Amino acid sequence: MSAPVLVLGGTGYVAGELLRLVAQHPELTLRGVISTSQVGEPLAAAFPHLAACYPDERFVSLEAAVERLGDAEHWVLLSAAPHGASAEVIARILDAADTAGVRITAVDTSADFRFADPEAYAKVYGHPHGAPARLPEFTCALPEHVKSIETPHAAHPGCFATSMLLGIVPLVAADLVEPEISVSAITGSTGAGRTPKDTTHHPMRHNNLFGYQALKHRHAPEVRALVEAATGRSIRLSFVPHSGPFARGIYATIFARLKAGARTSDALDALNAFYRDAPFVGVQAEPPRMKDIVATNFATLSLAADGDVIVVHSAIDNLIKGAAGGSIQWVNRLLGWPETSGLTAPAPGWL
Ligand SMILES: NC(=O)c1ccc[n+]([C@@H]2O[C@H](COP(=O)([O-])OP(=O)(O)OC[C@H]3O[C@@H](n4cnc5c(N)ncnc54)[C@H](OP(=O)(O)O)[C@@H]3O)[C@@H](O)[C@H]2O)c1
Repeated sequence: MSAPVLVLGGTGYVAGELLRLVAQHPELTLRGVISTSQVGEPLAAAFPHLAACYPDERFVSLEAAVERLGDAEHWVLLSAAPHGASAEVIARILDAADTAGVRITAVDTSADFRFADPEAYAKVYGHPHGAPARLPEFTCALPEHVKSIETPHAAHPGCFATSMLLGIVPLVAADLVEPEISVSAITGSTGAGRTPKDTTHHPMRHNNLFGYQALKHRHAPEVRALVEAATGRSIRLSFVPHSGPFARGIYATIFARLKAGARTSDALDALNAFYRDAPFVGVQAEPPRMKDIVATNFATLSLAADGDVIVVHSAIDNLIKGAAGGSIQWVNRLLGWPETSGLTAPAPGWL
């Protein structure tokens, strides 16, 4: 079965990566990219590097995309819209699909479907959830951390969260570490999206490194909730994000303390066992290097220890494993295709 795809979030960085991955996917065919600002403009105006894949495609309005729904029985909807807008627009498209009697499989990369509880969302994001009635239809998790899901749609945990969850969940699930975990993580500038800001401007970012929102970042409560959902255990999480002098990638360093009686080898065994059959997650002896995974859906972990102190390094590409690739991994899973379909391109190495 092949499926037509609608992409939401038009000219954004994650949308661009979704388009690049859809072009390489054997089962997905692009049937519309919804923009709020560039309707009628060629995709190549926003994404010149994609001109060869989509020479004739133009951005469309939400209304025009909805009119196309009757053309197929089963659609894939990939949202890379901003949080706060995504849920409402997804709900409008799902409502239109219900009316037209067609099926949609949706995956959202925004934060809108990460909390199961709309009150928890409102507390962190400062506004009411955009589509609370649709929340029970979404499961937020990394595909590596659940065998299957009951809901028709999925939500991506996000980029920083992916880097943290990959290292934390196996150790907490195996009850090997104290429930007090600290993370220091560095992100590339694409993590902040396409709209220029002081902190993403080249003179500020180039050859620079700075922390921000230490212990106050909105992703910390999301990660706590997702660790609890994946393991049934709650943790205290101290998270310090940093802005790094590179465009893409996240490098997270996770600090934890082994529980009494637990050994370093138990922690390493837990990581290896958890990801033995995971095609995109590697556990290696040496700390990961960003250039080995950047621009791919692969993630690399390593573990170091000194007595009862353990450190897990975790490296991902924020735009792919942390957003667009992880979302297509969910589509593969939800539609019963091989999990790796369209996602196995290796890193350029010398990006
Ligand atoms: N960047 C990352 O590394 C990353 C990682 C994980 C998750 N995410 C999440 O993925 C989403 C996209 O991130 P991004 O970095 O691609 O952001 P971005 O570069 O700022 O792009 C977002 C795009 O959404 C569209 N948009 C703006 N307002 C909208 C609205 N009201 N309704 C629908 N679309 C609207 C805009 O495109 P048009 O003007 O064409 O409409 C905009 O370019 C965000 O929710 C973000 O939190 C990002």
